Amino acid sequence: MRVLCIGAGYVGGPTMAVIAAKCPDVDVVVADIDAGRVRAWQAGEPPIYEPGLREVVRTALGRNLSFTTDVAGSIETADVIFVSVNTPTKTFGEGAGRASDLQYWEATARTILAHAKTDKIVVEKSTLPVRTAEAMARILHSKPNGVSFDVLSNPEFLAEGSAIRDLEHPDRVLIGGEVSERGRRAMDLLAGIYARWVPEDRILRTNVWSSELSKLAANAMLAQRVSSINALSELCEATEADVAEVARAVGMDRRIGPEFLRASVGFGGSCFKKDILNLVYLCEHFGLQAVADYWLGVVRINEHQQQRFARNIVAAMFNTVVGKRIAVLGFAFKADTGDTRESPANFVCRRLVEERARVVVTDPQALDNARRDLADLGDAVAFEPDPMRAVEGAHAFAVLTEWAPYRALDYRAIYRRMEHPAFCFDGRNLLDHRALFEIGFNVYPVGKVPLSHL
Ligand code: UDX
Ligand code: ADP
Repeated sequence: MRVLCIGAGYVGGPTMAVIAAKCPDVDVVVADIDAGRVRAWQAGEPPIYEPGLREVVRTALGRNLSFTTDVAGSIETADVIFVSVNTPTKTFGEGAGRASDLQYWEATARTILAHAKTDKIVVEKSTLPVRTAEAMARILHSKPNGVSFDVLSNPEFLAEGSAIRDLEHPDRVLIGGEVSERGRRAMDLLAGIYARWVPEDRILRTNVWSSELSKLAANAMLAQRVSSINALSELCEATEADVAEVARAVGMDRRIGPEFLRASVGFGGSCFKKDILNLVYLCEHFGLQAVADYWLGVVRINEHQQQRFARNIVAAMFNTVVGKRIAVLGFAFKADTGDTRESPANFVCRRLVEERARVVVTDPQALDNARRDLADLGDAVAFEPDPMRAVEGAHAFAVLTEWAPYRALDYRAIYRRMEHPAFCFDGRNLLDHRALFEIGFNVYPVGKVPLSHL
């Protein structure tokens, strides 16, 4: 069997690497228009940082996994084509800021149509608003040329930073297809690939609509949990309750569960906001304004949390940060990734620069992306790979990504290198706040009483 994946990004790359590693007899080709990215994959040096990914890629590279820029030329020999191109939020026209920008996705559908000479199973892997598999099918069947396409929805549930684990041990694999004998056969063929390493009872088959909506719903519910605990964190700060204690007590209720209750500076990443806004757009399209408003609230709380974090920094530092050096520890949207899409750090840095602080950003994996994201701010932001140098002469440091190595830094040495009074703003509740306070820091966690000497 030959599998092609169009799009070698955060989803396509790791997913295909795991399929190739688990199915040595399946030939897997990954095609992308970005020549730089393709060269990196070909060299066994993935262009994205993901723990364990490089090893998996190297297991299969040259055996049954290859990367190419020849998208059109790879189509004909493939039996199954995964589409995993980016679908960012539209920045222009109708639905700007809400709907998905489907230009890459539609271009891909047209390329498949132009180059397929035999029947294909097309698998939608990018997150797309509900009903796009149907639109894909319509484009693919727009030019009768004797070729038929079965379009399946197979949403990806991997989280960045744990992609390999999530792919190797998924909670479930979801496949949506047409409710017909043909559709069932296509779903069975795709299920057969996953069944090599995923137990049958975790492979769910459903109709296309349910599959697509499930992806949006899962991300909306996860984001809602983070927004719920973040909303409570503000109340904790106002009442001397401790959000970690509240989360522990709440999470021990089996009906609620302990995951995704870590209060933070806010959620980021390419999925949560985009998927909720897609859901909102869909609800509005169907005239369901109350439902749209409900989900929009999850995004609003997230914006409020980021806003509040930045405002707290300025307020704690005597209502001015003009000319003060502030070290930002972590720019990725979460630990163990170099991805900075929708990272709360981006927002916080911009707010601090507006307040005329001198911002120094450090991050073990995301510094190149940070440089690109903040390029428009010019000299107002500096970038420093070494956290010990980033804090040199700083009035404050803010933890914006929960990188484990930040827990092990020498905070006594950091305190000595900083201006005094020295401030710590822990946007991930990562550090030992009591110990920092005893060193001399004024410590501002999320959802806990600040520990201040002032
Ligand atoms: C998410 C979904 O988890 C995944 O199933 C889907 O396929 C893609 O979207 P991802 O965006 O990679 O994955 O990261 P995730 O671990 O969900 O974290 C999202 C954001 O929420 C991060 O910024 C993270 O720091 C934040 N978060 C998460 C919290 O602030 N608190 C938590 O308790 C959990
Ligand atoms: P995701 O997180 O959804 O995987 P990425 O942006 O990481 O998103 O990856 C999407 C990939 O799709 C990028 O590498 C991009 O170059 C690629 N891509 C976009 N349009 C096309 C296309 N028409 N043909 C092939 N690849 C494409």
